[in-house]
Amino acid sequence: MNDVVDLFPPGAHADDGGDLVVGGCRLRDLAAEFGTPAYVVDEGALRARAREYRDELAARWGDSLAIFASKAFPCTAVLRAVAEEGLGCDVAGAGELVHAVAAGVDPARIYLHGNAKTDEDLERAIDAGVGTVVIDNLDDVDRLERRVSDEQAVLVRDIPGVRPETHAAVATGQEDSKFGLAPADARRAIERLRGSDRLRLDGLHVHIGSQILDAAPFGQAVQALAAYGEFAVYDLGGGLGARYTYDDRPPSVAEYLDVLIGAAREHLPSAARLVIEPGRSLVARAGVTIYRVVTVKRGARTFVAVDGGMGDNLEVSLYGQRFEATVADRVGGGEKVDLVGRHCESGDVLSAGVALREPRVGDVVAVPATGAYCFTMRNTYNGARRPPVVFVRDGDARVVVRREGYDDLLRLDV
Ligand SMILES: Cc1ncc(COP(=O)(O)O)c(C=O)c1O
Repeated sequence: MNDVVDLFPPGAHADDGGDLVVGGCRLRDLAAEFGTPAYVVDEGALRARAREYRDELAARWGDSLAIFASKAFPCTAVLRAVAEEGLGCDVAGAGELVHAVAAGVDPARIYLHGNAKTDEDLERAIDAGVGTVVIDNLDDVDRLERRVSDEQAVLVRDIPGVRPETHAAVATGQEDSKFGLAPADARRAIERLRGSDRLRLDGLHVHIGSQILDAAPFGQAVQALAAYGEFAVYDLGGGLGARYTYDDRPPSVAEYLDVLIGAAREHLPSAARLVIEPGRSLVARAGVTIYRVVTVKRGARTFVAVDGGMGDNLEVSLYGQRFEATVADRVGGGEKVDLVGRHCESGDVLSAGVALREPRVGDVVAVPATGAYCFTMRNTYNGARRPPVVFVRDGDARVVVRREGYDDLLRLDV
């Protein structure tokens, strides 16, 4: 049975009146109070998933750290919640670092990534006392050496030559990837860093991509690292897929770590420290986007058009990611319609051929599993005001990022 409720955060349910409830709050009430579109985050589900990662990793490898890939939801409140559950974070540049610092993440637990780190990225990271910089190219070594005065820990990002099954835009471990260093260059970087008196080479990093629904390639990437000899630290990246649709069957965190840590036991030194960087799989299911239906147009196709779209969810048009949806107070079932947005492109589709029960103007429609990369890539296309983030927990709701106003659209004008 395709039960749409299963795609929402754990504990979500339809109440006696048929209203969908997330984090103890009726989605229709949230829409009335905070407006639409809005990103709703079940804070309890978010924290529980962070703890699941932390505990499942610790159970398998003593000296280990889970860090949140902040790009998946670069929101200060999300980073703070995850840090309070004992995770560090990674940042891809100075902008994400701003959120990590504002969230109070311990700088020693912040990892800086980027295939094209600017001088400013590096300077701000050094000033903030970022614990580890991940070297992605030989220019990173030059730049960093010129800037650090105290010792700076670094990892070298290796290209493992592993191509998992996922969208090409989010595959990063294949031989021709723009991320990381191919084996010969990785060895060159390792040699240079071993001779550096300011950069301390702690170990290696690998990340093969995102929305990966088969655990086997993660093990292959770990195996590739063994060819470089033994190191003190291995950062094994993120990439585990999330469940967006009825058909998606991503491995559980435990199943994924069985493969990943199993490979580490086989190929890496037992005294090493292991780091993992989950993003999407940590936050996707905790997030729900709520919209209001603006018009229902029946013709060659039935279009249910809402007050958001590709301004708040680019996953569909960038990667063809499928999402499911439901009317908030008539959950599941119904006629197949195209749920579309309000932006001036035919590609502005939130869900093609999705079953909605008796959709009407004014209904609240909820799209589950929008916690990853939707807030990240929100934009102001067609003058859309970027939506708020509302945390819900045990029946309470609070805004952690406010909705943009029309004034905000003019704020940067000079
Ligand atoms: C270096 C690095 N680590 C971790 C992640 C997180 O990946 P995901 O969100 O798929 O878990 C990414 C995202 O692509 C990344 O580039």
